[in-house]
Amino acid sequence: MHSLTSVFIVVLYSACVPVHQDELPTVKEYGFDDKYEPMVDSILELLTLEEKIHMIHGNGMFVSGGIERLGIPDLTYTDGPTGIREELERHSWDPLNMDNDSVTFFPTGTALAATWNTDLSLQYGKAIGNEANARRKDILLGPGVNIIRTPVCGRNFEYFSEDPLLASDIAVGYIRGLQEQDVAACVKHYALNNQEYQRWIIDVEVDERALREIYLPVYKSAAIDAGAYSFMGSYNKFRGDYVCENDYLLNRILKDEWGFKGIVVSDWGATHSTVKAAKNGLDVEMGGKSGQHFFALLADSVRAGLVSEQIIDDKVRRILRVMYNCKKMDSTRFQGKTNSPENIQVAYDVACESITLLKNTKGLLPLNSQEIKSIAAIGENAVNQYAKGGFTAGVKARYEVSLLEGLQKKVGDKIAIHYARGYKEEFVVVDTGGKWPYRYPDPDADEALIREAVEVAKKSDVAIIFAGNTRNVETEVVDRETLKFPFGQDELIKAVSEVNSKLIVVVVAGAACDLTYADSLSSTIVYAWFNGSEAGNALADVLFGDVNPSGKLPFTIPVKLEDVGAHAMETYPGRNFKVNYSEGILVGYRWFDTKNIEPKYCFGHGLSYTTFEYSNLETDKVNYLSDQDIILHLMVENTGNSPGKETVQIYVKPLGSSVERAEKELKAFRKIELKAGEKQKVKMEIDIHDLAYYNDTVKKWVIERGPYKIMGGSSSRDIREVAVVNIK
Ligand code: BGC
Repeated sequence: MHSLTSVFIVVLYSACVPVHQDELPTVKEYGFDDKYEPMVDSILELLTLEEKIHMIHGNGMFVSGGIERLGIPDLTYTDGPTGIREELERHSWDPLNMDNDSVTFFPTGTALAATWNTDLSLQYGKAIGNEANARRKDILLGPGVNIIRTPVCGRNFEYFSEDPLLASDIAVGYIRGLQEQDVAACVKHYALNNQEYQRWIIDVEVDERALREIYLPVYKSAAIDAGAYSFMGSYNKFRGDYVCENDYLLNRILKDEWGFKGIVVSDWGATHSTVKAAKNGLDVEMGGKSGQHFFALLADSVRAGLVSEQIIDDKVRRILRVMYNCKKMDSTRFQGKTNSPENIQVAYDVACESITLLKNTKGLLPLNSQEIKSIAAIGENAVNQYAKGGFTAGVKARYEVSLLEGLQKKVGDKIAIHYARGYKEEFVVVDTGGKWPYRYPDPDADEALIREAVEVAKKSDVAIIFAGNTRNVETEVVDRETLKFPFGQDELIKAVSEVNSKLIVVVVAGAACDLTYADSLSSTIVYAWFNGSEAGNALADVLFGDVNPSGKLPFTIPVKLEDVGAHAMETYPGRNFKVNYSEGILVGYRWFDTKNIEPKYCFGHGLSYTTFEYSNLETDKVNYLSDQDIILHLMVENTGNSPGKETVQIYVKPLGSSVERAEKELKAFRKIELKAGEKQKVKMEIDIHDLAYYNDTVKKWVIERGPYKIMGGSSSRDIREVAVVNIK
């Protein structure tokens, strides 16, 4: 499980006593293999300055330069993060429209995180790496790991969570799996690209404590625990400097503190300078007018003595290191295969485990195929495809089973399915005078489509409304303005609920939506995500009970946007291109729980068709020293009638801390599977270093002595067992 390997950790007495000083992180099992270093050095010696410069910028949209004379091939990149992007023209974003570049579309980031299953994220990484190999790609631009600070961020669907531990553990699995296939991860978007609105220009300010405790841990785990080979520098600024020329983030933290030996690649067009970017830690300039900064201008700067050649050598050494570790020049590199049955199985498994049952108060689910004769399937999302869209995260899927197709295949001719479109995906386009066109989802309902939906709902035993967003609503570059369902879906839900009380709302989305209205009108709500090629099969299996749902929310669903920290503090989207994260460490459920705000559905929530009882939370000791682990056991019993999976969650709160602490923080979790009636004593561990807070004044991690409350439960607000331990 996650370990927060700290550079400095101190225990707080009346004075600070250091426990581990200057403890440098080491990458053991994962990450770069030192055996390649002599080869890297010997190649470096053969290169001229011009050749070195040729290697550190894009010479195509998704290619950086190789050296033919020495047999060093071009390095190839691909988006990411949920499938291998289709082939584009070398120097443009236009697709080549080939007939052999379609792939498996894997469930998007929040779906993967909703599984809370780190074995599955490893399988996911392997499968996507396998497909990258088949397409001869060296660097996969993913995973996208930014912390979900606001539910409106357009790219939340690509990311994992509002919680650093869940995001880290899912990311580590993904990266290890991917790199096991000899494909480099490019962890993005480092860092603080937590909104799309004005992402190119905003300057983010966040206090050091929140930076270290909330925003950086996932990158640190990616670099140290997973040994990621590359990172992508984001578009935004941080404390006044663009990230791609930010000495603090790139050199001091990533490369010096965390010992990262791989490459930092700019986001596409995110490089803004030559000398500053070269010196401050950027290794490869990609996108935009690639080579604008890291080509002729950089060569001139080296010749003029403004940038030393050692700096260029360091960049090239990193590139060669990645090439060797990916076996770029080695015939034993994995071949890979797109759309193989194994990869499709992973897409299906992740989709099944991601589906999150939020509410089932009348027990409508699972559907009983013996009793039901007809189903009204309402809403465009039942027939939509989700692989394309979302801009650079779009995938050309070999196939995608729509939610309606999944249902139809499942019931055959045993149950009549009446489909009605229900609403229309339409956008209102605002004239921006030639600038980036601005458009927002039309909030208005289509009365004729609602009437048609009402008719099919009336004549059906059960009505399922497929509501939520599309890949055009949640997308790169823009944030949503509202959490409300688009296209008048609330009106549709109201009208259908009036004629059929057996109403199930299936939400297709990658981020939180406003469910208040749906919740008041429907007894049954399911989050179905943007769930990849197998989305329809997985959902049908869950709805009919062949698969027991086990997804849990990786983020909070608020009652309203203003309840979210960044919005309550009015620090989103910022003013005059400055965004100050003044809610500090209170991100996601940390904010809701500490400020006592009731969410609509809390972080970690997700129901099953069976029930789990928790008992006997025990710790191996009562008193601990700061270098020990807390070993805990918790008894979990499946008290229902069907087998099921449950994610046991452990939250911790220090009692009587000298600084502000969140009401609770996730510190461990484990997903288990139990047959009906089966019991398991679940073992989990917490490294006491993970209970430290970052002290901004002394610039160190500090473990406070004293009592800590350990809470075990089924979600962040369904705590079943509590224990108290002491740190001496
Ligand atoms: C996105 C990256 C993506 C890159 C290349 C940028 O617009 O922010 O996530 O990898 O384009 O397509």
